[in-house]
Amino acid sequence: MSGQTILITGGTNGIGLESAAVLAGMGAKVIIVGRDAGRVAQALATIKARSGADAAAYLCDFASFAAVRQLADQVLRDVPKLDVLINNAGAVFARRTLTADGLEATFAVNHLAPFLLTQLLLPRLKESAPSRIVTVASGRHTHGTMDFDDLGFTRGYQILRAYARSKLANVLFASEQARRLVGTRVTSNSVHPGRVATNIWAGAPAWTKPLIRFWLSRTFITVEEGAAPIITLASRPDLDDVTGTYFNRHEAALPSGVAQDWEVAARLWRESERLVAVNTRA
Ligand SMILES: NC(=O)c1ccc[n+]([C@@H]2O[C@H](COP(=O)([O-])OP(=O)(O)OC[C@H]3O[C@@H](n4cnc5c(N)ncnc54)[C@H](OP(=O)(O)O)[C@@H]3O)[C@@H](O)[C@H]2O)c1
Repeated sequence: MSGQTILITGGTNGIGLESAAVLAGMGAKVIIVGRDAGRVAQALATIKARSGADAAAYLCDFASFAAVRQLADQVLRDVPKLDVLINNAGAVFARRTLTADGLEATFAVNHLAPFLLTQLLLPRLKESAPSRIVTVASGRHTHGTMDFDDLGFTRGYQILRAYARSKLANVLFASEQARRLVGTRVTSNSVHPGRVATNIWAGAPAWTKPLIRFWLSRTFITVEEGAAPIITLASRPDLDDVTGTYFNRHEAALPSGVAQDWEVAARLWRESERLVAVNTRA
Protein backbone atom coordinates (compact mmCIF):
# COMPACT_ATOMS: atom_id res chain seq x y z
CA MET A 1 0.00 0.00 0.00
CA SER A 2 2.90 2.30 0.72
CA GLY A 3 2.83 5.22 -1.71
CA GLN A 4 -0.36 4.04 -3.43
CA THR A 5 -3.01 6.69 -4.00
CA ILE A 6 -6.57 5.74 -3.05
CA LEU A 7 -9.67 7.83 -3.68
CA ILE A 8 -12.66 6.88 -1.55
CA THR A 9 -16.10 8.40 -1.89
CA GLY A 10 -18.32 8.64 1.18
CA GLY A 11 -15.17 9.02 3.24
CA THR A 12 -16.80 11.12 5.94
CA ASN A 13 -18.65 8.39 7.77
CA GLY A 14 -19.26 4.69 8.34
CA ILE A 15 -17.22 2.09 6.51
CA GLY A 16 -15.79 4.68 4.10
CA LEU A 17 -14.17 6.67 6.90
CA GLU A 18 -13.02 3.49 8.61
CA SER A 19 -11.45 2.17 5.39
CA ALA A 20 -9.77 5.54 4.79
CA ALA A 21 -8.23 5.59 8.28
CA VAL A 22 -6.96 2.00 8.05
CA LEU A 23 -5.57 2.41 4.51
CA ALA A 24 -3.83 5.66 5.53
CA GLY A 25 -2.31 3.75 8.44
CA MET A 26 -1.02 1.18 5.95
CA GLY A 27 0.89 3.94 4.15
CA ALA A 28 -1.53 4.80 1.33
CA LYS A 29 -2.06 8.38 0.21
CA VAL A 30 -5.75 8.65 0.93
CA ILE A 31 -8.11 11.11 -0.71
CA ILE A 32 -11.63 11.26 0.65
CA VAL A 33 -14.69 12.73 -1.02
CA GLY A 34 -17.54 14.18 1.04
CA ARG A 35 -20.44 16.56 0.51
CA ASP A 36 -20.25 18.64 3.67
CA ALA A 37 -17.21 20.80 4.53
CA GLY A 38 -17.64 20.36 8.28
CA ARG A 39 -17.92 16.56 8.10
CA VAL A 40 -14.97 16.43 5.69
CA ALA A 41 -12.80 18.46 8.11
CA GLN A 42 -13.84 16.18 10.97
CA ALA A 43 -13.04 13.06 8.92
CA LEU A 44 -9.60 14.41 7.99
CA ALA A 45 -8.90 15.04 11.68
CA THR A 46 -10.01 11.49 12.55
CA ILE A 47 -7.79 9.98 9.84
CA LYS A 48 -4.83 12.06 11.04
CA ALA A 49 -5.40 11.12 14.69
CA ARG A 50 -5.71 7.41 13.88
CA SER A 51 -3.01 7.00 11.25
CA GLY A 52 -0.65 9.94 11.74
CA ALA A 53 -1.09 10.68 8.02
CA ASP A 54 -2.50 13.76 6.30
CA ALA A 55 -5.27 12.75 3.91
CA ALA A 56 -6.53 14.99 1.13
CA ALA A 57 -10.17 15.76 0.42
CA TYR A 58 -12.61 17.05 -2.17
CA LEU A 59 -16.15 18.26 -1.76
CA CYS A 60 -18.78 16.77 -4.03
CA ASP A 61 -22.50 16.13 -3.68
CA PHE A 62 -23.30 13.05 -5.73
CA ALA A 63 -26.82 14.35 -6.26
CA SER A 64 -25.43 16.55 -9.04
CA PHE A 65 -23.67 15.34 -12.19
CA ALA A 66 -22.13 18.81 -12.62
CA ALA A 67 -20.52 18.39 -9.20
CA VAL A 68 -19.24 14.92 -10.15
CA ARG A 69 -17.73 16.32 -13.34
CA GLN A 70 -16.08 19.11 -11.37
CA LEU A 71 -14.68 16.55 -8.91
CA ALA A 72 -13.24 14.49 -11.77
CA ASP A 73 -11.64 17.59 -13.30
CA GLN A 74 -10.00 18.43 -9.98
CA VAL A 75 -8.71 14.88 -9.49
CA LEU A 76 -7.35 14.67 -13.04
CA ARG A 77 -5.61 18.00 -12.49
CA ASP A 78 -4.15 17.23 -9.04
CA VAL A 79 -3.55 13.48 -8.89
CA PRO A 80 -0.91 12.17 -11.29
CA LYS A 81 -1.33 8.51 -10.27
CA LEU A 82 -4.52 6.85 -9.07
CA ASP A 83 -4.10 3.27 -7.90
CA VAL A 84 -7.50 2.56 -6.36
CA LEU A 85 -10.94 4.11 -6.75
CA ILE A 86 -13.39 3.03 -4.06
CA ASN A 87 -17.00 3.82 -5.00
CA ASN A 88 -18.49 3.75 -1.52
CA ALA A 89 -20.83 6.75 -1.07
CA GLY A 90 -24.44 5.68 -0.71
CA ALA A 91 -27.74 6.79 0.75
CA VAL A 92 -31.43 5.94 1.10
CA PHE A 93 -34.40 8.29 0.74
CA ALA A 94 -37.64 7.87 2.67
CA ARG A 95 -39.65 9.54 -0.09
CA ARG A 96 -39.11 9.68 -3.83
CA THR A 97 -36.63 12.54 -4.22
CA LEU A 98 -35.26 14.12 -7.37
CA THR A 99 -31.66 15.23 -7.86
CA ALA A 100 -30.45 18.46 -9.44
CA ASP A 101 -30.59 16.52 -12.73
CA GLY A 102 -34.24 15.54 -12.22
CA LEU A 103 -33.51 11.86 -11.56
CA GLU A 104 -34.64 9.59 -8.73
CA ALA A 105 -32.03 10.18 -6.04
CA THR A 106 -31.27 6.63 -4.86
CA PHE A 107 -30.42 5.47 -8.37
CA ALA A 108 -28.59 8.70 -9.20
CA VAL A 109 -26.48 8.97 -6.04
CA ASN A 110 -25.75 5.26 -5.54
CA HIS A 111 -25.28 4.18 -9.17
CA LEU A 112 -25.20 6.95 -11.79
CA ALA A 113 -22.81 9.28 -9.95
CA PRO A 114 -20.16 6.57 -9.34
CA PHE A 115 -20.71 5.32 -12.91
CA LEU A 116 -19.96 8.82 -14.21
CA LEU A 117 -17.03 9.41 -11.86
CA THR A 118 -15.47 6.09 -12.86
CA GLN A 119 -15.77 6.83 -16.59
CA LEU A 120 -14.19 10.26 -16.12
CA LEU A 121 -11.31 8.88 -14.02
CA LEU A 122 -10.66 5.84 -16.23
CA PRO A 123 -7.86 7.46 -18.26
CA ARG A 124 -5.92 8.09 -15.01
CA LEU A 125 -6.66 4.57 -13.70
CA LYS A 126 -5.43 3.08 -17.00
CA GLU A 127 -2.23 5.17 -16.93
CA SER A 128 -1.69 4.00 -13.34
CA ALA A 129 -2.25 0.28 -14.02
CA PRO A 130 -2.17 -2.11 -12.30
CA SER A 131 -5.03 -0.33 -10.61
CA ARG A 132 -8.37 -1.20 -9.07
CA ILE A 133 -11.98 -0.09 -8.94
CA VAL A 134 -13.86 -1.31 -5.87
CA THR A 135 -17.61 -0.70 -5.83
CA VAL A 136 -19.44 -1.11 -2.54
CA ALA A 137 -22.70 -2.86 -3.39
CA SER A 138 -24.90 -4.80 -0.95
CA GLY A 139 -26.43 -8.19 -0.35
CA ARG A 140 -29.74 -6.34 -0.78
CA HIS A 141 -29.06 -6.35 -4.53
CA THR A 142 -30.69 -9.81 -4.49
CA HIS A 143 -34.06 -8.06 -3.91
CA GLY A 144 -33.42 -5.68 -6.80
CA THR A 145 -35.22 -5.55 -10.15
CA MET A 146 -34.21 -3.57 -13.21
CA ASP A 147 -37.36 -2.13 -14.81
CA PHE A 148 -35.90 -0.17 -17.72
CA ASP A 149 -39.29 1.39 -18.46
CA ASP A 150 -39.39 2.99 -15.03
CA LEU A 151 -35.90 3.11 -13.50
CA GLY A 152 -36.95 6.08 -11.34
CA PHE A 153 -40.07 4.50 -9.76
CA THR A 154 -42.54 7.06 -11.13
CA ARG A 155 -45.24 4.36 -10.83
CA GLY A 156 -44.79 3.85 -7.09
CA TYR A 157 -41.77 4.38 -4.88
CA GLN A 158 -40.68 2.19 -2.04
CA ILE A 159 -37.44 2.90 -0.18
CA LEU A 160 -36.15 -0.69 0.02
CA ARG A 161 -36.99 -1.45 -3.62
CA ALA A 162 -35.18 1.72 -4.73
CA TYR A 163 -32.15 0.87 -2.60
CA ALA A 164 -32.07 -2.74 -3.85
CA ARG A 165 -32.25 -1.55 -7.48
CA SER A 166 -29.34 0.85 -6.94
CA LYS A 167 -27.25 -1.90 -5.36
CA LEU A 168 -28.13 -4.34 -8.17
CA ALA A 169 -26.92 -1.62 -10.53
CA ASN A 170 -23.64 -1.47 -8.56
CA VAL A 171 -23.04 -5.21 -9.11
CA LEU A 172 -24.02 -5.10 -12.81
CA PHE A 173 -21.88 -2.00 -13.38
CA ALA A 174 -18.81 -3.49 -11.69
CA SER A 175 -18.92 -6.66 -13.77
CA GLU A 176 -19.67 -4.88 -17.07
CA GLN A 177 -16.85 -2.43 -16.30
CA ALA A 178 -14.53 -5.40 -15.78
CA ARG A 179 -15.49 -6.86 -19.19
CA ARG A 180 -14.74 -3.50 -20.80
CA LEU A 181 -11.34 -3.33 -19.12
CA VAL A 182 -10.00 -6.72 -20.17
CA GLY A 183 -6.32 -6.40 -21.05
CA THR A 184 -5.82 -3.06 -19.29
CA ARG A 185 -4.74 -4.37 -15.85
CA VAL A 186 -7.44 -2.21 -14.29
CA THR A 187 -9.68 -4.48 -12.23
CA SER A 188 -13.30 -3.89 -11.23
CA ASN A 189 -15.03 -5.80 -8.45
CA SER A 190 -18.03 -5.26 -6.18
CA VAL A 191 -18.44 -6.15 -2.53
CA HIS A 192 -21.13 -6.68 0.06
CA PRO A 193 -19.52 -5.46 3.30
CA GLY A 194 -22.03 -7.20 5.57
CA ARG A 195 -24.88 -5.59 7.51
CA VAL A 196 -23.03 -2.86 9.30
CA ALA A 197 -24.09 -0.53 12.13
CA THR A 198 -23.69 2.84 10.35
CA ASN A 199 -25.78 5.89 9.45
CA ILE A 200 -26.91 4.44 6.12
CA TRP A 201 -30.55 4.22 7.29
CA ALA A 202 -30.58 7.86 8.46
CA GLY A 203 -32.80 8.61 5.48
CA ALA A 204 -35.40 5.97 6.44
CA PRO A 205 -38.89 7.04 7.62
CA ALA A 206 -39.05 8.18 11.26
CA TRP A 207 -41.44 5.37 12.30
CA THR A 208 -38.88 2.71 11.29
CA LYS A 209 -36.06 4.21 13.40
CA PRO A 210 -36.73 2.29 16.67
CA LEU A 211 -36.79 -0.98 14.73
CA ILE A 212 -33.58 -0.05 12.89
CA ARG A 213 -31.88 0.88 16.18
CA PHE A 214 -32.93 -2.52 17.57
CA TRP A 215 -31.54 -4.36 14.52
CA LEU A 216 -28.32 -2.33 14.56
CA SER A 217 -27.62 -3.19 18.17
CA ARG A 218 -28.51 -6.87 17.86
CA THR A 219 -27.56 -8.20 14.45
CA PHE A 220 -25.30 -5.75 12.64
CA ILE A 221 -21.50 -5.95 12.56
CA THR A 222 -19.17 -3.11 13.56
CA VAL A 223 -17.73 -0.53 11.13
CA GLU A 224 -14.30 -2.11 11.66
CA GLU A 225 -15.68 -5.48 10.52
CA GLY A 226 -17.65 -3.90 7.67
CA ALA A 227 -14.65 -2.00 6.33
CA ALA A 228 -12.38 -5.05 6.38
CA PRO A 229 -13.49 -6.54 3.01
CA ILE A 230 -13.17 -3.13 1.31
CA ILE A 231 -9.63 -2.78 2.67
CA THR A 232 -8.84 -6.31 1.47
CA LEU A 233 -10.12 -5.61 -2.05
CA ALA A 234 -8.21 -2.35 -2.22
CA SER A 235 -4.91 -3.66 -0.94
CA ARG A 236 -4.30 -7.40 -1.03
CA PRO A 237 -1.54 -8.13 -3.57
CA ASP A 238 -2.92 -11.56 -4.53
CA LEU A 239 -6.07 -9.83 -5.85
CA ASP A 240 -4.10 -7.90 -8.48
CA ASP A 241 -5.59 -9.95 -11.32
CA VAL A 242 -9.02 -10.71 -9.86
CA THR A 243 -11.72 -8.84 -11.76
CA GLY A 244 -15.43 -9.04 -12.55
CA THR A 245 -16.08 -10.70 -9.21
CA TYR A 246 -18.73 -10.08 -6.57
CA PHE A 247 -17.49 -10.56 -3.02
CA ASN A 248 -19.77 -11.46 -0.15
CA ARG A 249 -17.52 -9.92 2.48
CA HIS A 250 -14.17 -11.67 1.95
CA GLU A 251 -15.38 -14.51 -0.27
CA ALA A 252 -15.94 -14.46 -4.03
CA ALA A 253 -19.62 -15.34 -4.48
CA LEU A 254 -22.30 -15.57 -7.14
CA PRO A 255 -24.62 -12.55 -7.11
CA SER A 256 -28.33 -12.87 -7.96
CA GLY A 257 -29.43 -14.27 -11.34
CA VAL A 258 -30.26 -10.81 -12.73
CA ALA A 259 -26.89 -9.53 -11.53
CA GLN A 260 -25.22 -12.21 -13.67
CA ASP A 261 -27.23 -11.38 -16.81
CA TRP A 262 -24.85 -9.84 -19.37
CA GLU A 263 -27.71 -8.45 -21.45
CA VAL A 264 -29.14 -6.61 -18.46
CA ALA A 265 -25.66 -5.31 -17.64
CA ALA A 266 -25.13 -4.10 -21.20
CA ARG A 267 -28.55 -2.40 -21.28
CA LEU A 268 -27.94 -0.76 -17.91
CA TRP A 269 -24.62 0.51 -19.26
CA ARG A 270 -26.31 2.09 -22.29
CA GLU A 271 -29.03 3.63 -20.12
CA SER A 272 -26.44 4.96 -17.67
CA GLU A 273 -24.42 6.51 -20.52
CA ARG A 274 -27.58 8.18 -21.77
CA LEU A 275 -28.67 9.45 -18.35
CA VAL A 276 -25.28 10.92 -17.44
CA ALA A 277 -24.58 11.97 -21.03
CA VAL A 278 -21.20 10.32 -21.53
CA ASN A 279 -20.12 8.24 -24.48
CA THR A 280 -17.74 5.58 -23.21
CA ARG A 281 -16.75 4.61 -26.75
CA ALA A 282 -15.59 8.17 -27.52
N1 LIG B 1 -24.33 -0.30 6.47
C1 LIG B 1 -24.70 -1.40 5.86
O1 LIG B 1 -25.32 -2.30 6.46
C2 LIG B 1 -24.38 -1.60 4.40
C3 LIG B 1 -24.62 -2.87 3.85
C4 LIG B 1 -24.34 -3.07 2.51
C5 LIG B 1 -23.80 -2.03 1.76
N2 LIG B 1 -23.58 -0.81 2.33
C6 LIG B 1 -23.03 0.24 1.49
O2 LIG B 1 -21.88 0.78 2.09
C7 LIG B 1 -21.66 2.10 1.60
C8 LIG B 1 -21.29 3.02 2.74
O3 LIG B 1 -22.40 3.14 3.61
P1 LIG B 1 -22.29 3.18 5.20
O4 LIG B 1 -23.04 2.00 5.69
O5 LIG B 1 -20.91 3.40 5.64
O6 LIG B 1 -23.24 4.46 5.49
P2 LIG B 1 -22.93 5.91 6.04
O7 LIG B 1 -22.25 5.83 7.36
O8 LIG B 1 -24.23 6.62 5.96
O9 LIG B 1 -21.91 6.51 4.98
C9 LIG B 1 -22.34 6.88 3.69
C10 LIG B 1 -21.35 7.83 3.09
O10 LIG B 1 -21.85 8.26 1.81
C11 LIG B 1 -21.89 9.69 1.79
N3 LIG B 1 -22.98 10.21 0.97
C12 LIG B 1 -24.31 9.99 1.10
N4 LIG B 1 -24.99 10.71 0.19
C13 LIG B 1 -24.08 11.42 -0.51
C14 LIG B 1 -24.16 12.37 -1.56
N5 LIG B 1 -25.34 12.78 -2.07
N6 LIG B 1 -23.02 12.88 -2.05
C15 LIG B 1 -21.82 12.52 -1.56
N7 LIG B 1 -21.66 11.64 -0.54
C16 LIG B 1 -22.79 11.10 -0.02
C17 LIG B 1 -22.11 10.08 3.25
O11 LIG B 1 -21.76 11.43 3.43
P3 LIG B 1 -22.30 12.29 4.70
O12 LIG B 1 -21.32 12.00 5.80
O13 LIG B 1 -22.26 13.68 4.20
O14 LIG B 1 -23.68 11.79 5.01
C18 LIG B 1 -21.18 9.10 3.95
O15 LIG B 1 -19.85 9.52 3.90
C19 LIG B 1 -22.95 2.50 0.87
O16 LIG B 1 -22.75 2.40 -0.52
C20 LIG B 1 -23.95 1.45 1.33
O17 LIG B 1 -24.95 1.21 0.36
C21 LIG B 1 -23.85 -0.57 3.63
